[in-house]
Amino acid sequence: MDFPDGFLWGTSTSAYQIEGAWNEDGRGESIWDAFARVPGNTANGDTGDTACDHYHRFRDDVALMASLGLTAYHFSISWPRVLPNGRGDINQRGLDFYDSLVDELVAASIAPIPTLHHWDLPTALQDGGGWAVRDTVDAFCEFAAVVSDRIGDRVHSWMTINEPRVIVQLGHQTGEFAPGHTDLAESLAVGHHLLLAHGRAIPVLKERSAAQVGIALDPNPVVAASDHPEDVAAAKLRDAIENRWYLDPLAGMGYPTDAVAAHGVSLDFVRDGDLETISTPMDFLGVNYYRREVEGTHGTAPPLPQTDMGWDIYPEGLTGQLVRLHREYPFAAYWVSESGAAYPDEVGPDGTVDDPLRIDYLKGHIEATAAALEQGVPVLGYLVWSLLDNFEWASGYVKRFGIVHVDFETQVRTVKASGHWYRDLISG
Ligand code: FCB
Repeated sequence: MDFPDGFLWGTSTSAYQIEGAWNEDGRGESIWDAFARVPGNTANGDTGDTACDHYHRFRDDVALMASLGLTAYHFSISWPRVLPNGRGDINQRGLDFYDSLVDELVAASIAPIPTLHHWDLPTALQDGGGWAVRDTVDAFCEFAAVVSDRIGDRVHSWMTINEPRVIVQLGHQTGEFAPGHTDLAESLAVGHHLLLAHGRAIPVLKERSAAQVGIALDPNPVVAASDHPEDVAAAKLRDAIENRWYLDPLAGMGYPTDAVAAHGVSLDFVRDGDLETISTPMDFLGVNYYRREVEGTHGTAPPLPQTDMGWDIYPEGLTGQLVRLHREYPFAAYWVSESGAAYPDEVGPDGTVDDPLRIDYLKGHIEATAAALEQGVPVLGYLVWSLLDNFEWASGYVKRFGIVHVDFETQVRTVKASGHWYRDLISG
């Protein structure tokens, strides 16, 4: 496998999934705090109250990353930790935390790559309509300014928003994720405002920081269940609804007309100039990649092995998507901004965690990334989801994605075999 000089190797996490300290040092409430407290919303009623206690243990966690030889760390900023009411009063202690985290990373020669919004919207903003209202776009730009004023001098790259599709579909259509709404028309306004927030934040970040700016999407390849024309058409439409709905406007092509027709709801939330703002040139697209989707009713695609999430393992889809994106869109560069697998790992009697299936998964997806590079796709780095086992949203602590095992009773971290394997790969 060949990787260019300067290719970065790291891990990804997000604030609500690892930080804990939900009510400390002036942090406000997020929609995930509220959502996780409602019985039935998460496995075992799990919440992120304590999570990996990373808020208190970040120095040790950075030391752990350094011991693995990582050269990048992609994390997210908790909006309500910085702006407890979503906008207005700044919580300096919240900013201090990210300031110290970034210092610690820089001292360990690990490139800091913060995402501004990984789903934990302040409840105060949700109460005012959340992402369904345009005010939240203004609030996001204020948040971007506050954060970049403080840490922008040391950030390597910014990701504005993580996976708008998940906020749209799981947060506002199926209701499986916070805020738990089920309203198609609202969800499309939400998606539009997320993209608009991204576009409007680009100049805000660029004014305050020399760092590169992008957004992270989750463009799963959609495979037709059979070669029946209806299945092929259904797969194409699903790709339009789930992938091109975000990719096309970011690339200046507007919303895909086939998906607009299929949704059949008014896009009256789109105002003059919005599409131009959304397509403000960015430095890279983050690609979070886990699996393929199968669409159609006339057959069944040949089954593939699955991870503990029940997600099909399909590494060639990562090569395929990167190559397709590079051919069809004008984006300047790419990150594999999340890639990884859940398995039910346990610490063995000898104190080690043997996770050969995760090693296979990572090897396959790193080879798939190398294959895309070989075909000319400018990929800047590979970020494993995740550094630590953590709060996997509605799945609570049941699904373990870490290359480092976390005992959630004691907070003891144990590097899994995959973590040692990743270290050896990076040093090699
Ligand atoms: C992605 C999310 C991330 C994590 C992984 C497994 O969609 O961005 O927070 O939950 O899936």
